Amino acid sequence: MEEKVNPGGTGAALDLIEEHPILEFQHGKKITFFFDGRELEGFEGEPISSALHANGVRVYRETADMHRPRGFFCAIGKCSSCFMVVDGVPNVRTCVTPLTAGMRVETQRGRGVVPGSDEGGASS
Ligand code: FES
Repeated sequence: MEEKVNPGGTGAALDLIEEHPILEFQHGKKITFFFDGRELEGFEGEPISSALHANGVRVYRETADMHRPRGFFCAIGKCSSCFMVVDGVPNVRTCVTPLTAGMRVETQRGRGVVPGSDEGGASS
């Protein structure tokens, strides 16, 4: 993958708000997962896209026709901007899907292809 598509995900310290004047943050257990083959850290149960964002990853997929990068948009599971391939399954809305240890997350390029199928899924 070209660096311009996903410049983040360097494995550096997580980019998180540690202190806030009125909010408290509670995280699940720290775990590792894989993004395009690279091992990254996140917190169990947080949205996959949040873990990616904390690791500096901003691009989650490329559109099918124009190959344009897409990342967060609604962040509430109502669009298709954050579709990724998760454990081999395409078109997973990563903003509402909890992270688990060892999960394999991949940038989705174009329409998702369901394993064992010749057809692509709906995505543009
Ligand atoms: S960012 Fe819209 S569904 Fe995830």
